[in-house]
Amino acid sequence: MTGSSPNLYSFPDVDAVAKELRKYVIQCQNASISRHGSFRVAVSGGSLPATLSLALLAVNNDIPEDTLKFSKWEIFFADERCVPLDDPESNYRLVKGELLDKIPAELGAPRVHTVDPNHVNDDDPQDLADLYQEELMHVFAAKDSVRLPVFDLILLGCGPDGHTCSLFPGHELLQEKDAWVAPISDSPKPPPKRITFTLPVVTHALNIAFVATGNGKKRTLKMLFDTEEGKELPSGLINVQAVSKVNWFTDYAAAADVLYPKRGSL
Ligand code: 6PG
Repeated sequence: MTGSSPNLYSFPDVDAVAKELRKYVIQCQNASISRHGSFRVAVSGGSLPATLSLALLAVNNDIPEDTLKFSKWEIFFADERCVPLDDPESNYRLVKGELLDKIPAELGAPRVHTVDPNHVNDDDPQDLADLYQEELMHVFAAKDSVRLPVFDLILLGCGPDGHTCSLFPGHELLQEKDAWVAPISDSPKPPPKRITFTLPVVTHALNIAFVATGNGKKRTLKMLFDTEEGKELPSGLINVQAVSKVNWFTDYAAAADVLYPKRGSL
C-alpha cells in the first residue's frame, strides 16, 4: 500500500478477493480505532455489499488481530437512492439484508447512518442531500470548522461505464467542489433520484477501496487503467486524485485484460 499510484490487486476468484478484502478492512479498522476510537466507513450499493458480507462474515483467519469490532463502526452510505428505507431499491435495505442483519451479536452492532426517511419522497432531492450532509457534520464536526470529512475507509463499486457512488461520466456533479453530499435527479442508472458523496469527500478519505469482480468489469478496468480516456471517468478521477490511497480488489476475470501492474498480495 505504498507508492504514488493506485494499487490494483487481483486474486483468482471472489472468495480470494473476500479474504484479502477482510485483511484490508481489519487493518483499516484497527488503525482507526487506535487513532480516534472509532471506525468511520462508507459503503455503496450494487454488488459491493454481498462481497463485503462474504469478507466480513464468512471468512475467518482465526488470529487475534483478525477481530471485527462492529460496536466501534459508524457506517454511512456513499450514495443512496431517494426511496423509502424498506424499498427494494434502497442501498440501506441492501446492506441491511446482506450484512447488518447477519452480524452475530457477539461482534457488536455498528451505528448506521441512513438518509432521513421523511424526505425520501420529496420532489427535489436537495433537502435529503443537505440533511445527510448535516448527519456527516454531527460526526465529523461542523462544515465551517473542517473543510472535508475524513473517512477512515470508503468502500466502492464501479459500474460498467466507470461510474462510482452516483457520480456518472460527464455529469456536472463531477465539478462540485463545495458540497459534501449532492443531489442528482437525472441518474442514468435507475432510479433517477439519488444523493451522493462528492468527489472531494471520496478523495479526502484515508483509504478508498474499489471492489470489482466478474467478466462484466473487464472492459471497464482495461479502460480505467490502460487508457487516457479512463482517467476522465469518475472512478478514474478518484485513481488520479487519490493515487496510493486507492486499492482495487479485483478477481482474475475482471482484471484479465489490464496491462497496468497487478499485485497478488496485500
Ligand atoms: C448504486 C451504487 C453504484 C454501484 C455501481 C456498481 O447505488 O447504484 O452505489 O455506485 O456501486 O453501480 O454496481 P455493481 O457492483 O453492481 O456493478
